Formats: sequence, structure tokens, C-alpha cells
Amino acid sequence: MNRPTDPPAARPDSRSSIGDADLRFTKDLSRPEPIPEAGIARVVELMRSGRLHRYGETGGGDPDPAMLEEEFARSIGARWCVAMSSCGATLFVALKTLGIGPGDTVLTSTFTLAPVPGAIAHAGARAVLVETTPDLTCDLDDLDRKLASTGARVFLVSHMRGHITDLAALRTICDAHGAALVEDCAHTMGAAWDGRPTGRWGRIGCFSAQTYKHINSGEGGLFVTDDDDLCAQAILYSGSYMFFGQHRSRPADAVFERWRGRIPNFSLRMSNAAAAMLRPQLAELPRRATTWNRLHAWLAEELEGIEGLRLPRRDAREQFVASSIQFFVERPRERIAAFIEACDARGLHIKWFGVETPVGFTSNASHWEYLAKPLGVDRSLETLSQLCDMRIPPDLSDDDCSVIGRIVRAAAAAT
Ligand SMILES: Cc1ncc(COP(=O)(O)O)c(C=O)c1O
Repeated sequence: MNRPTDPPAARPDSRSSIGDADLRFTKDLSRPEPIPEAGIARVVELMRSGRLHRYGETGGGDPDPAMLEEEFARSIGARWCVAMSSCGATLFVALKTLGIGPGDTVLTSTFTLAPVPGAIAHAGARAVLVETTPDLTCDLDDLDRKLASTGARVFLVSHMRGHITDLAALRTICDAHGAALVEDCAHTMGAAWDGRPTGRWGRIGCFSAQTYKHINSGEGGLFVTDDDDLCAQAILYSGSYMFFGQHRSRPADAVFERWRGRIPNFSLRMSNAAAAMLRPQLAELPRRATTWNRLHAWLAEELEGIEGLRLPRRDAREQFVASSIQFFVERPRERIAAFIEACDARGLHIKWFGVETPVGFTSNASHWEYLAKPLGVDRSLETLSQLCDMRIPPDLSDDDCSVIGRIVRAAAAAT
């Protein structure tokens, strides 16, 4: 497990050149790493064979999704893993396996992205938001209060942008209320709280393999659990027909006998090609985490101390994998908008969670009009109204980090 690392000691003083008027950032912050050659070769082989569906009526050996499931489960110490078409699919299936349906309430984090309340809506349940602290973790007092007031049986915590709450304390609260914990780990693959991987603190952990996450197959999701019945249901929901025997990571047939026929097939499987791309990337995770955390530490040092900017504090037990960086611009809205524009004009595209109209992937709870009102999370919305966000592409150079620091400093000074 990787811990955040300090930037190298000897570094140029970027603060000396605040004034360069023609300073521009030219890299694409959203650029992912290429797929490892072994993954490309395997996908080409699969395409040549035409065998892209994970199940085969006549044997078919051990398909890539079955191998990926076994390998990912082993890598994080989970008993079972089920590969699906997206993390959103795993979140939806997680709720279904826990018996959530119309009329139920599911608590979830305010600081998250649209697929999380979307998964709750998909299950037909009502989402109730839990406040997010000024350091972007879950407000445990609010969680305690809302579990008591709503009687919700499930808390779907989102480790949004890799910010990890004290999961030991969070779990204690859920247990005290008899609520199941589901972890949205779309932003925490390879990360841990106090030595235990995220996704391993509750009943179910859900990971993403979408392009902008820690491993990339375009779209993909991984569901992990230690529970035989949850795993069997998830396999059936994901669309295994009667091919569940072709999974390597699965409980005994007797467990499926308890569920087959009662579980609808939602066709949310992962394809052979997606799994083939992902398998060699699992081994890359530690290297990627080291790179990201080094770049994050460098950028954090660039941004710290810029007037009007604040970085969220992180607990020493939070072993994050920082594929992005967040900071608050503690100013009125118009000045934040001007700051974003000034960065944009220099080619640095920063995202803003306080944006009035959703842009690209970025939205906040006030935009999800299907949620029941009042949202009851005014403090979080206030926090998010000042939150800026920047992706960290792994190929960022130290010079790029310095340029970013100079642009942000200049934009903050000018607005
Ligand atoms: C916080 C969070 N949770 C869940 C998801 C869903 O992941 P996927 O795109 O794999 O469905 C996303 C996607 O961006 C996300 O950002």
C-alpha cells in the first residue's frame, strides 16, 4: 500500500516567475496511460478468435473475466469478486443483493458524482444525503443522526476523489444501527484506511475500471464481498444465465440453488476484451500509485500558501492514491468564476464543484432534481461551492507541476 510521498527536496523556486504573462499549460490533464502491451496482445488474440462474450456453451477454458475476478479478489484479500460492465452497475447490484427496492431509503455521501445517487434511483430507492466535512470526508455525527432518523438499512459511502473517512469509526456507527455498509471505491483502487484496503470495510466494495480511474478498460466494474449469498446473487443479477459454474471466484453450487430462478438477469456482464485489458494493469497499480502520490505531493506544495486557497487536511491513516487534487478557493462565487476563467485562459482547465450548471462529469447534489427536498446538507453545499478539482495525469513532469503552480498563483493574484 502506498503512502503519500514528499516531493524531492531540491526544486526550482516557481514563485520567482509569477509575472510571466505568456505562461501557458499545454498538456491534456485527462490523458490516460496506454494499455500495457500484454493487454493489447491478448485483446487482439480475442478479436481474432471472435470469442468476446465471457460465457461459452462449449467449455471455453478460463475466460479473462473469471481470471480477473480471482486475481482482483486475491489482491485485496476479498473472498469473492464479480466483474461487471461498470462501477455504477456494481453499486446498483450491491443494493439489490441487500434487498433494497422501492420504498427503501439509502443514505449516501453528499460529495460524490451522479452515478452514485443514480444507482440508488435505479434500485427504486430514495437517497438521503449525509453531510460532507470541510475536509471532504463523511460527517460521522450527521451519519449517526440520519441513520437514527430515517431507519435506513444501507449506507453507501463514496470515497469521492480518494478522500477516505475514518472507516473504523464509520463502521462502528453503521453496526450500532444495524445498517449495511457499501463502499463506492471508484476513486480508491489500491488505497486503504489504516492498512485495510477500501472496499474491505463493509459488506460490499465497488470499484471502477472506467478510463479515468486507476485501471482502464473504457468501462468496467468490480464487486467484492466475503458473503456467499451476496456473491451468488451478484453473479446471477450480472447476467450469468446458468453459466455461473464458469466463474472461478464463486461460492458452492448449493448457494446458487438458493437463488436461481428468483434473481432477474440484468445483463451487466464484463466482456472478455475488457477483462483482458485489465489483468496486466493490476500489477501496474503500485507503480501508478507511487507516481500519482509523488505528483500530488508536489502539486500540493505548489498550491499551499497561495492566498485564498485551502487544501483539505488528510489523516495520517488515510493511504490514498491521488489521481486528482482538490483545493478550495475561499472567495465569493464571482471571484471563483473569474479565477477558473483566468486559469482556463492559460490552458489550465480546472473543474469547479460549485458550478451553477453541471459541466462534463462535474455536478453536485443541488443539480440532481430527482432527489427528495429538502436535501438537508446546506453545510456540504457551501463547502462544495468553493471546491476546485484537477486531474493528475501520470505523465505530468516536475516542470508541468511548477507551471501549474505558477498559473494558479498568478490567477489567484489577478482575480
Ligand atoms: C465517485 C464515483 N462513483 C461511481 C462512479 C461510477 O463509475 P462507472 O463510470 O464505472 O460506472 C463514478 C464514475 O465516474 C464516480 O466518479
